[in-house]
Amino acid sequence: MKNLAVQKKTRIRGEISVPGDKSISHRVVMLGGIAQGETRVKGFSDCADCRNTLNAFLKLGIEIQDHSEGELTIHGQGLKGLTCAREIIDVGNSATTMRLLSGILAGQDFSSTITGDEYLQRRPMRRIILPLREMGAKISSPDDNHPPITIVGQKLHPIDYLSPVASAQVKSCILLAGLYARGRTSFTEPSQSRDHTERMLRYLGAPVRIKGTTISIEGLWELEARPITIPGDISSAAFFIIACLLLRNSEIRIKGVGINPRRTGIIDVLKKMGADIVIENVQQLSGEPVAELIVKSSSLRATKIAGELIPRIIDEIPVLAVAATQAQGVTEISDAQELRVKESDRIGNAVSELSKMGGTIKEKKDGMVISGGKMLVGSSVNSFGDHRMAMALTVAGLLADGETIINDVACIDTSFPQFMDTLNRMVE
Ligand code: S3P
Repeated sequence: MKNLAVQKKTRIRGEISVPGDKSISHRVVMLGGIAQGETRVKGFSDCADCRNTLNAFLKLGIEIQDHSEGELTIHGQGLKGLTCAREIIDVGNSATTMRLLSGILAGQDFSSTITGDEYLQRRPMRRIILPLREMGAKISSPDDNHPPITIVGQKLHPIDYLSPVASAQVKSCILLAGLYARGRTSFTEPSQSRDHTERMLRYLGAPVRIKGTTISIEGLWELEARPITIPGDISSAAFFIIACLLLRNSEIRIKGVGINPRRTGIIDVLKKMGADIVIENVQQLSGEPVAELIVKSSSLRATKIAGELIPRIIDEIPVLAVAATQAQGVTEISDAQELRVKESDRIGNAVSELSKMGGTIKEKKDGMVISGGKMLVGSSVNSFGDHRMAMALTVAGLLADGETIINDVACIDTSFPQFMDTLNRMVE
């Protein structure tokens, strides 16, 4: 198990780019693989999760040329162009791959089994199994919830699904299955989750309708391949943004970051907390907004986060908890029970590990209460194999007195293999 020693730093400065957006990178391979024609991709994320999606599509018979530096050519074969994988499809740690791919595989005329690593095997899949079954899919798992998942491809029919959870993975799974059902499939969620699938489907010419929190798609529509440039991942940028805000005399510029409004909850919340973040040079890239962020050290004050904001900030909450330990006042996070079923239990683990470092945090069923203005102290902490926990604790280590040892950091490769190199270049 690889451990990491992090020392206290005085400041962070410089200009960076972050890897291509992980959510969009998954979708490019999936939609490019089932589109008709050649998709030329720039900015594909080289992280382990996205590699798992790419490998899954190679196994399903799609030719993909990797020109390195994030450039790919995907030779899409149309909706029915996938072929049966000769072996079990192992998607590692990636729940996005498992959930979205299940939607696509449900409508094929062959069978597939998808599995994952020890962490993914603990993630809930009932949330996709039940609606896919309503569409006529033959899908099962040993306990009807946890991986591995076996899918016997079927003719699907459209449904109107009312989801109990706001989840882009569940929504995307159903919309992708909807591509294989004749007629209109619609998905309604309690609040809006990220919309990269809808945007990319539209960009590739699919008839997607959006009304409030309901998205509908017309099935059996062939997607037309088009070139796609993927913006930088705001979820990866978040670690640098918060390190910069919290260290004194710091200033960074992050180029080419995606600022899709469903993903910018972190910027809105930090600004409300008093952060100096400027957004410049906004442009549109392949249906997604992109910009440059300029961040300067700031004194933060506490805030409350709940309700519809939660899906817009869901992956940034561990590192936001680090920021809250340094803000003046008491920050309260509620309605975030989904954090319990992410790569690890991010409520329990943020509370236990930041408490070891001297933070004052109380656990709630659906969030946490963090008393700010606390000096952190270097300690031995655990990532629990969760990439975002490992990076959030690294940011905490930059502020803490003494040395912080983070146990099990190999998981950082899940989303951001260049994280430590990029950080080391910028901190003093
Ligand atoms: C993702 C959606 C989010 C997020 C995950 C990636 C996606 O999960 O937490 O890291 O790419 O669709 P939800 O399914 O909770 O929206």
